[in-house]
Amino acid sequence: QTIYLKDYAPFPWLIDGVELTFRLSPKATRVTSRIRFRPNPDAPSGPFFLNGETMTLLSARIDGAEVQPEITPEGLTCAVPDGPFTFEAEVEIDPEANTSLDGLYRSGGMYCTQCEAQGFRKITFYPDRPDVMAVFTVRVESEMPVLLSNGNPVDQGDGWAEWHDPWPKPAYLFALVAGDLVSVPGHFTTRSGRAVDLNIWVRPGDEGRAGWALESLKLSMRWDEEAYGREYDLDVFNIVAVDDFNMGAMENKGLNIFNSRLVLASPETATDTDFERIEAVIAHEYFHNWTGNRITCRDWFQLCLKEGLTVFRDQSFTSDVRSAPVKRIEDAILLRARQFREDQGPLAHPVRPESFVEINNFYTVTVYEKGAEIVGMLKRLVGDEGYRAALDLYFDRHDGQAVTIEDWLKVFEDATGRDLTQFARWYSQAGTPHLTVTDAFEDGRYTLTFRQETAPTPGQTEKAPQVIPIAVGLLGANGDEVVPTTLLEMTEAEQSFTFEGLTGKPVPSILRGFSAPVEITRESSGAEKAFLLAHDTDPFNRWEAGRDLARATLTAMILEDAAPDAGWLQGLGAVLRDTALDPAFRALVLALPTQDEMAAHLARLGHVPDPLRIRACHRALREAMSEALEDSLPALHEDAQIPGEYSPQAEPAGRRALGNAALGLITLRDGGARARAQFETADNMTQSIAALGALLAIGKGQDQLAAFEARWSHDRLVMDKWFGLQIALAEPEEAAPLTERLTQHPGFDVKNPNRVRAVFGSLSGNAAGFHAPGGASYALLADWLIRLDALNPQTASRLSTAFDSWRRYDETRQGQMRAQLERIAGTDGLSRDLSEMVQRMLG
Ligand code: ARG
Ligand code: ZN
Repeated sequence: QTIYLKDYAPFPWLIDGVELTFRLSPKATRVTSRIRFRPNPDAPSGPFFLNGETMTLLSARIDGAEVQPEITPEGLTCAVPDGPFTFEAEVEIDPEANTSLDGLYRSGGMYCTQCEAQGFRKITFYPDRPDVMAVFTVRVESEMPVLLSNGNPVDQGDGWAEWHDPWPKPAYLFALVAGDLVSVPGHFTTRSGRAVDLNIWVRPGDEGRAGWALESLKLSMRWDEEAYGREYDLDVFNIVAVDDFNMGAMENKGLNIFNSRLVLASPETATDTDFERIEAVIAHEYFHNWTGNRITCRDWFQLCLKEGLTVFRDQSFTSDVRSAPVKRIEDAILLRARQFREDQGPLAHPVRPESFVEINNFYTVTVYEKGAEIVGMLKRLVGDEGYRAALDLYFDRHDGQAVTIEDWLKVFEDATGRDLTQFARWYSQAGTPHLTVTDAFEDGRYTLTFRQETAPTPGQTEKAPQVIPIAVGLLGANGDEVVPTTLLEMTEAEQSFTFEGLTGKPVPSILRGFSAPVEITRESSGAEKAFLLAHDTDPFNRWEAGRDLARATLTAMILEDAAPDAGWLQGLGAVLRDTALDPAFRALVLALPTQDEMAAHLARLGHVPDPLRIRACHRALREAMSEALEDSLPALHEDAQIPGEYSPQAEPAGRRALGNAALGLITLRDGGARARAQFETADNMTQSIAALGALLAIGKGQDQLAAFEARWSHDRLVMDKWFGLQIALAEPEEAAPLTERLTQHPGFDVKNPNRVRAVFGSLSGNAAGFHAPGGASYALLADWLIRLDALNPQTASRLSTAFDSWRRYDETRQGQMRAQLERIAGTDGLSRDLSEMVQRMLG
């Protein structure tokens, strides 16, 4: 059953208060609810329907009198009085049997909840929709020592605790946790003097790994005060780490629940990337307190309202506390690898979709990351001051409300006087705009002409021109910047921009800072790109020039059997040796486009990609780099051996990133000696796992793999790395058999999403292994998707996107992948999640 944005209608009642009591028991938890309803004066009347699934109704009352509601698998309906009334119910649910990890479930002996998007309806009967906001009071009864819910603690005693959340909220922000937990406590005093108790709750034994999360939380709280003027609004802020979690984390009011991999970190167990990610996700969930919780979404079509904005905010935070250019490059890499891929295939959808079958299928890179790019473009267009004024107005005008993208755009219009009618297309039009650029120079006038085009996507054949902010700078022949960064606003299908008074033909640096989420084609010589790689004053475009050259040389190797481009290798060497450049930046310049990106690129050029050939050329190019850069690499690797105590901050992490990139290349020529030494001596996971990866990539490292397992077999999070790395780096024909063997390993647990993702996400991420001739990986993934779907539809559905690029490949592979999709589609009792996904992929 498809839900449409155009069918939105408000709920006919408002809620004056909700009281819930939980009597927790693994297989028979009792939930009693008392909900005070009153007719919504702004809504047409309608039937009284409460969502409710997978529960047993024990009793229901209206104003104290027993009633017999009509029950369907989706919920209940009931005759109700004309005026205000109180609805009470008692239901029984089974947390132990809940393997979907949606609603109330058990993880490692504790109770926890996940209610976004529609999990609350598995807890009790309720209008489970984000535009119904209410004040909750919660009583939890359980033997468990720690009992948590939203808001502030009211009172507690032996076996019970009461919580009250004074801020009205939708049900998707409800949370409850009960477990044998210990806290790593902290304090924060807000700018206006509110004292806030902070706690990171973990299992006993994990206390030593929660410090980084706590520091990240304090940093985030301060940043939101300084950058957005937003303060925290409760007396406590609790974060709980759980091992079994479908997504990364959840912003429940005052009680954030996190996948433990995004909380727990120590130098020995987590990499620099893990530390950075934890810092960013702690910030993301904290920032939701204002962008998501205080101001929420009217309906789930508006998901990007809170997610796009909150991702933009966490990206800005990371830029401020780490390196802005490095963060921008990392975000562009992610967007292109995943969001552009989504746009190119059958799952393409607008940032604000217009229909869905299962909303959980729309927590996508398009909604999140492209949604964040739209916010960034708005900021670029209206300027920093305009943006701040618009956001101030947003918080002022909409605090306490459930709003829409139209409301969001209106605050920008009202605060800045700008008409955003055309800009709004970014929310409704799917697909990546493609810019073609040509230029001309005459009598000191330089003209850039852009043409924009967006390919058809499912359900949208015609595309209208978008507003594209294009940041451009011009460089003179000696590398001087003759025109500093200027923002061009493209609004037409084709449009020219002229720069006057130049003494010679400049070299353009286009789309600086990746100023819009578009693809760009410009016929330009390798020499010009090499010039930009050496001289561009915009760090993003400097990296971009190197990336373009790498992609061009790889393309020529794949299609024409060309040799690696010597000019590029030389330019690369110069960048690597330039110690004035941030090591993290240099590490990014050294990274090649992934094999999947090359496949996408070739498909766009009209070729059928051959994953094995791409892999072979990728490897050949890395070997050429290893040889050409041979003299520079050892020094880079040695600079990463930092004496003293490990720090996950940006500077040392950047040095290690460059050192490990160098190690990977050195290992292609030294037989693994240096990597083995690093594996032996490393005192941190970043260098230990990089050494292991470097060895596995040359077909060695089996002893180290065994040693790693022996050392870490007790640690779930570290073992996820062990499972994932060997599959990601397996030889093409080994990928499926190895994956199958690892599913027999005693540590494999189909009920743990992190483990499942480590195994099957790595299989589909190993492009040549996933597409290895014969289709064994396709069949294996399909087998497990079917099995997983019966337990955990959300995670199965998400992993199924591995097949979304099936149409790119040759007929044989297409046939094999289609057959697997059809086999999944034909499975009895398939979830709504997975069936919607495979239907869309089959088209
Ligand atoms: N709102 C959470 C976050 O971004 C994501 C939760 C999504 N959960 C889900 N089951 N779809 O930060
Ligand atoms: Zn979010």
